[in-house]
Amino acid sequence: MGSRLRLIWDIFIAAAIVGITSYIIYDAIADNEEKTTTTAMPTTTTLSDSDYADSIKVCTNPHEKLEHPEKYPESPLDEYVWRDDGAFNFEVMSNEVVSTANGDMQVIKANFTSQLWLPDEDWHLEATGNKYWIHWLTIFVPLPDHKYYDERLVNTAALLVEGGSNKKGETGPPDGTTLGTFLGKRFASFSGAVSISLEQIPNGRMRFKDWNNGNSGLGGDDLIGYTWRRFLETGGTEHERLLLMPMAKAAVLAFNATSDILQQEQCGRIGSKHPCRKAPLEKYMPWGYSKRGWTAWLTAAVDYKRVAAVNPIVLSFLNMIPNFHHYWRAFGGWSFAMAPYYKQNITKTLDDPLNIEAAKILDPYTFKGVVVEN
Ligand SMILES: *[C@@H]1O[C@H](CO)[C@@H](O)[C@H](O)[C@H]1NC(C)=O
Ligand SMILES: *[C@@H]1O[C@H](CO)[C@@H](O)[C@H](O)[C@H]1NC(C)=O
Ligand SMILES: *[C@@H]1O[C@H](CO)[C@@H](O)[C@H](O)[C@H]1NC(C)=O
Repeated sequence: MGSRLRLIWDIFIAAAIVGITSYIIYDAIADNEEKTTTTAMPTTTTLSDSDYADSIKVCTNPHEKLEHPEKYPESPLDEYVWRDDGAFNFEVMSNEVVSTANGDMQVIKANFTSQLWLPDEDWHLEATGNKYWIHWLTIFVPLPDHKYYDERLVNTAALLVEGGSNKKGETGPPDGTTLGTFLGKRFASFSGAVSISLEQIPNGRMRFKDWNNGNSGLGGDDLIGYTWRRFLETGGTEHERLLLMPMAKAAVLAFNATSDILQQEQCGRIGSKHPCRKAPLEKYMPWGYSKRGWTAWLTAAVDYKRVAAVNPIVLSFLNMIPNFHHYWRAFGGWSFAMAPYYKQNITKTLDDPLNIEAAKILDPYTFKGVVVEN
């Protein structure tokens, strides 16, 4: 590089570093300023009768309009996600208006049950002792006087798929300081769209009778690796053992829970300062990183009518089996991040037909037609 070019380049890099650093500092300060006052939402209506009638009209059940798409043959993922196991449920724990520097935002916290998983298997969730997946769902709704409120996004929500363990004896929702709720709130604040944080994906920790994991149960990647091996060991027919199946189902049903909750919490029950939403939620953008980005991809594949965009962060193994071979050849081995998988011997049997069967579910690339065309 010529010395002049080099100088321009150095100035550019220096400016970028200064810019990013000031942004981070500004962001931290702005966030401190954000939390000011909170007031509980009125639980009874203060709307006039005619406003109330109007609010009911615009908030008719959004589910009626949607049917499960028939264009693509059903995969076991579709079958599992759309099968109603009767467990879907939620309970709204709090509903407040939070005043932020950008204007008012409604924050609703709910205890959400997404499914009953592997009811015949000898396992349980440590926190509850049973087989239901339960999550904290936090919904951030920028209200019309919010600086970035955008009428065009009124039927759109982003769903952040987040982690965290289920905690035993928990008496109420988290206080909003988990990474998931922090990012969810920031998203609502900057986009003006409804933002949802879905936590405990996957549920955990879990205890399986045939896997002694010492004093702690299984969670995260260890759980994905273990259940994947069990899928291979049981002959590759019980697809719902693959943990990404219940992870994706929880994300899809979080869309249902959110639209039901907004309908219940915002229609007619809310003060005239914040009238009913102009349209029900119809479009979603799942996002998340790593295994939660993986979940976001599969959510788009299985619910492509409602998913308008998908934002999978740092999940770089589309076309999984060839890509894993490539990975091994390029690095001369597996990185530590793959330990939960190679410990379960999955990487030893990549080309086994059963693993190819698993990849039909686990590899988002299988669904590329579905995701790209819709
Ligand atoms: C979730 O919503 C979809 C799409 O509207 C609907 O087909 C499905 O029956 C709903 N499932 C539950 C459990 O509410
Ligand atoms: C959340 O719901 C589950 C399932 O109904 C229940 O077991 C749990 O105790 C609830 N948690 C709280 C804090 O209410
Ligand atoms: C993985 O394979 C090795 C060698 O065949 C075996 O000793 C080990 O028990 C296997 N691990 C699991 C979790 O099955």
